[in-house]
Amino acid sequence: MNPQEAGIDEGISEMIATTKSAAGKPNAAPIGIITTVDDDGARAYQVKLYRGSQTRANVLETGRLAANATTDAILFVETAFDDLSTECFTDFEGFPVLWEATAWIIFTSELVEEREDYLRFQLCPQAVKINRKEVKAINRGLNAVIEATILATRVSMTKDKREREELRKELERYAAIVAKCGGWREREAMGMLKEKFLHGAE
Ligand SMILES: Cc1cc2nc3c(=O)[nH]c(=O)nc-3n(C[C@H](O)[C@H](O)[C@H](O)COP(=O)(O)O)c2cc1C
Repeated sequence: MNPQEAGIDEGISEMIATTKSAAGKPNAAPIGIITTVDDDGARAYQVKLYRGSQTRANVLETGRLAANATTDAILFVETAFDDLSTECFTDFEGFPVLWEATAWIIFTSELVEEREDYLRFQLCPQAVKINRKEVKAINRGLNAVIEATILATRVSMTKDKREREELRKELERYAAIVAKCGGWREREAMGMLKEKFLHGAE
């Protein structure tokens, strides 16, 4: 079983994590899968889950997480801030994965570090599925949406007015890159972020 086949390589792979609660409710959220490679080429997979997310609660409850590969900018924004409708999920041996994923990999998790602000889990691959091969050149608009979504999750967390203002300025900078380099999905995703964090009521 090789997570590289699902597009997970050294460093941090930005993916959509699907999980389920002990009661069986599926959830999806963008999460970074951390891959380290030792001198012998052996790979280790980890995830850091910060306070307050449903993903973290679910991983603690069920000890499993699926990493779904996608380049859909809208999916990153939707799953960061809203619940996905149940039709977006399909099931592999009782565990939720995304229909839309180009590939997914299901991991079991083991808690290896507890910090004030995050828990670190070691991940062990259990199943990999490649739905389709996607050949895609780098698009700065897509990268800008990912960066902007990470920023937006921080804007939504901080109460500090100055910090929020700084984050907003950065969001505007990413919005300009999306306007120049993105396709319609990136523009739509950025529009959703702007609606929430630049024009939205506080
Ligand atoms: C690209 C990207 C990567 C992220 N990576 C992580 C991560 O590795 N760990 C984490 O706890 N939150 C991460 N987040 C933030 C969560 O996605 C965010 O807190 C989300 O609202 C959690 O949703 P949930 O409550 O449905 O789990 C990331 C966000 C983005 C946009």
